[in-house]
Amino acid sequence: MYASPALTESYARNWFEDQAMTTMAQDVLKGLTADQKYIPSKYFYDARGSKLFEVICGLPEYYPTRTELRLLSTHASDIVRGLRQGDLVELGAGANWKIRTLLDALGPRRRAEVGYIPVDVCGPALLESAAQLTTVYPEVRVKGMVADFTCDLHRLQSDRPKVVLFFGSTIGNLDESEALAFLQDVTAMLKPGDRFILGLDMVKPVELLEAAYNDSQDVTAEFNKNILLVINRGLRATFNPAGFDHVAFFNEQQERVEMHLRARRDMCVEVEDLNISVTLKKGETVLTEICRKFRRDGAEKMIRDAGLEVSRWYSDRKGWFSLLEAGLDRPRPRESAKIIAIP
Ligand code: AVJ
Repeated sequence: MYASPALTESYARNWFEDQAMTTMAQDVLKGLTADQKYIPSKYFYDARGSKLFEVICGLPEYYPTRTELRLLSTHASDIVRGLRQGDLVELGAGANWKIRTLLDALGPRRRAEVGYIPVDVCGPALLESAAQLTTVYPEVRVKGMVADFTCDLHRLQSDRPKVVLFFGSTIGNLDESEALAFLQDVTAMLKPGDRFILGLDMVKPVELLEAAYNDSQDVTAEFNKNILLVINRGLRATFNPAGFDHVAFFNEQQERVEMHLRARRDMCVEVEDLNISVTLKKGETVLTEICRKFRRDGAEKMIRDAGLEVSRWYSDRKGWFSLLEAGLDRPRPRESAKIIAIP
């Protein structure tokens, strides 16, 4: 039932070649022909982008990672309470710092019976992180899955008890309707007694928010421009990253940080695989990411709208970051306990 890293790797390659490219073509075609041009933020995360994001997580200005990590270490045993013979499913897993706090809290006995299923769009990052993890916790069965959690959650159906984890406030990358659709998919994969743990970056003074996305070492700028290299490679496009400025600001109205790439001059970009050329005026921007910031009321409403009920709320003293725990509100009878291998 649990694939070895080698199997996961070939699976990852197939998926990437068979599906991701056509999806990328559709996404980018739609994004670059829209009024406000955009590129979906999942395309940040090739091997280099995932590495750059890891560097961002350690930057002094980027408070979310360390704040969430501290919350996790404080509440780890509460978060994994009662989990036996089940799975920890981590969506958008990336590096493995956060899951380690939970595996530590499980202790050796429960670790040996629990599976860890990291899900990430970036195959290389997933493999590296899974391999690393198995050297530290050889008793944990790890089965990584290369997938886009906004459309592939049905591939995770199983009857094993589970705690589904979605850290980093990555849900903030989805707009309201995308987030609702995603949360409904999460609801569909939960059984009574299962839990969903969601990391949320909270609204806070604008200076703090903007500093987190405009770091003094320009790693975020590099990360932002990396998306152009991914598109160049994936669709034979001719973006010149040096022709763009990194722009990130807090949109107070919509309570979200927006990341853009702003053209330094008029330009024309060929996208060979799409058979189009895209013109950009000097000063025109391509939106590459929205990072919504949350308030407790709004977050709880969003969860309820998806058919889930909030059962716990953890936050640091300053209220900068929160972890919300939710489960099914209407218990449904559990189907007979057959074990289904995850395809
Ligand atoms: C990985 C989506 C949580 O929104 O803060 C970091 C990505 N972008 N710096 C975030 C990101 C710029 C990050 N998430």
